[in-house]
Amino acid sequence: MQNIHVSTYADLEALSLAAARCVIQAAHEAIADHGYFTIALSGGNTPKALYSLLAEEPYTSQIDWSKVEVFWSDERCVPPDSPDSCYRMAYDTLLGKVPLTEQQIHRVPAEQADRDAASQAYTDEMRRVFKTEGTPVFDLILLGMGPEGHTASLFPHQESLKEQVRLVMPVTVPKPPPPRLTFTPPVLNAAKHVLFLVTGKDKAEAVQAVLEGEYNPEEYPAQIVQPSNGDVTWLFDTGAASHLSQK
Ligand code: 6PG
Repeated sequence: MQNIHVSTYADLEALSLAAARCVIQAAHEAIADHGYFTIALSGGNTPKALYSLLAEEPYTSQIDWSKVEVFWSDERCVPPDSPDSCYRMAYDTLLGKVPLTEQQIHRVPAEQADRDAASQAYTDEMRRVFKTEGTPVFDLILLGMGPEGHTASLFPHQESLKEQVRLVMPVTVPKPPPPRLTFTPPVLNAAKHVLFLVTGKDKAEAVQAVLEGEYNPEEYPAQIVQPSNGDVTWLFDTGAASHLSQK
């Protein structure tokens, strides 16, 4: 695999500070290059500290929020005010605290009963904002990883791993709440930058397998993330990195 950067930090706080610097750098680069910054947020617990930092000084004023377009790499099929909603988590920690308009926050309509229609609607929304008929090229996609190697809502041995046509699709996954909508591999692999935030000793085995094991994305879906014209940065805490031979 090419263009991979790996860094290990003492704890979540140090990792989140580094992640904030990565987001700011990607925003500056994108705005200088094409005038706006497209980011896909991840759910889970790990990015909460990053989102809170980005809402505070000295970080928040380093981003020109008027030029940011916010999406999600996956969403749980719950209403947006549910405590399980990735949108709600990001809104409460970051989006509701910075000068973003509603038009800049592109929430996954994952609460809709027709999940195929919701996936298509989100695809259409991405294509509208990115002004493309093809696959949007995100400036930055944030991802987490689960202890069995899942990322976004791409889980081991699921059909979603092979999807090459749809950009967003409904899935039913082992991690509650099971019904989700997720970005598919083509969207992840079109990104300019992908930033994984991974903490905890329970993920150490999967981290080792993903970075140093045989290529087997059916077992370890995070291995699928290899953007053809982009780079991947992994930020670990010492627990998550503890099985790596090179730390
Ligand atoms: C979600 C994400 C999932 C998450 C990982 C890591 O559940 O919303 O889809 O991919 O990023 O499971 O979650 P933690 O950061 O909570 O460990």
